[in-house]
Amino acid sequence: MTLLDAATAVRENAYAPYSRFKVGAALRAGSGKIYTGCNVENVAYPEGTCAEAGAIAAMIAAGDTEITEILVIADSPSPVPPCGGCRQKISEFAGPEVTITLATTAGQSRAVTMADLLPGSFNAGHMVQSNDH
Ligand code: THU
Repeated sequence: MTLLDAATAVRENAYAPYSRFKVGAALRAGSGKIYTGCNVENVAYPEGTCAEAGAIAAMIAAGDTEITEILVIADSPSPVPPCGGCRQKISEFAGPEVTITLATTAGQSRAVTMADLLPGSFNAGHMVQSNDH
């Protein structure tokens, strides 16, 4: 099973009655296992969750903690990029060199890196306080 196949399949289960924009995400973890997620909207709009968040939650629940590659797909006129919040969520578990593939259901795709999507990211190193070093 490829990430494209997995994300395409899970996207069908997206719950997106409000935006009608179904998104699927699939990631490969350090163990080699694939985890998937889809967007889950809510009538209280801000309570909806993105596909990437679902895939990350599944990975953590299963005991993996490292993303080695991730793919996101939607029926979009151009390859769909993760939203800003998802970029931060992915970066918690993906190094700057990790490939993020943005795909469309029509077959377009574009590969970028974590560093491309979230340059200058906030990380744990920024929380070291002056009396710690
Ligand atoms: N969405 C995702 O699931 N991932 C993204 O990276 C972009 C946006 C979802 C959220 C919402 O359910 C719908 O797409 C429209 O914004």
